[in-house]
Amino acid sequence: MTRFVTFEGIEGCGKTTQIRLAAAWLAERGIPVLATAEPGGTPLGRKIREVLLKRGSFAIGAEAELLLFAAARAQHVRQAILPALRAGQWVLCDRFADATLAYQGFGRGLDAGFIRTLNDFSALSLSPDRTLLFDLPVEAGLARAEKRTAGVWAEAAEDRFEREDKAFHGRIRDGYLNLAAGEPERFRIIDGAADVETVHREVCLRLAELL
Ligand SMILES: Nc1ncnc2c1ncn2[C@@H]1O[C@H](COP(=O)(O)OP(=O)(O)OP(=O)(O)O)[C@@H](O)[C@H]1O
Ligand SMILES: [Mg+2]
Repeated sequence: MTRFVTFEGIEGCGKTTQIRLAAAWLAERGIPVLATAEPGGTPLGRKIREVLLKRGSFAIGAEAELLLFAAARAQHVRQAILPALRAGQWVLCDRFADATLAYQGFGRGLDAGFIRTLNDFSALSLSPDRTLLFDLPVEAGLARAEKRTAGVWAEAAEDRFEREDKAFHGRIRDGYLNLAAGEPERFRIIDGAADVETVHREVCLRLAELL
């Protein structure tokens, strides 16, 4: 049995914070784990991430954006995720195919059926064994993300997603909840508004279900 767990939710919901804590928690238990992220996780993925984050000097339409995320995923699955799963490692992934449905589908209005087909092609039909959805109000997530941007990670200041209007992020949040309702066995919804330690304890309980 593989253990492929994805971390999903709107900006600032705590994915990156929680994936780090979760990877450390598994490692402390002697469990081999790969913690990775999309777009990213491979040299190509990191180049694509840079293009997506540092746009501003050129336009990227919704369709081109969708294909860039798909290209990053195609490489990521083949080069990093599947080899790790085959080697018996747990794989924790910060965003995956659900993010494409939430952002490019629910957010930007691209055809969900086509996105699902593209996701399957990119990911060799690999689906997470469990998806943790960190849910919290859009305002709370964006406020956190802005605070972080004002700090050390200057690159994020370029992140266009964070400058989109609240309605867009509202559609993403609702989109994620819709996806979760459609696959209750795979999804676990976690209250992302709680403090870091409380959320981490909840994540550990969910991971323990797979031990
Ligand atoms: N439970 C929490 N309570 C308060 N602040 C938090 C909590 N979790 C994370 N943060 C802080 O909020 C900011 C955003 O968290 P994090 O980067 O983990 O979110 P993210 O979901 O990865 O966001 P993005 O989608 O933009 O990458 C960080 O500064 C982090 O320290
Ligand atoms: Mg993050």
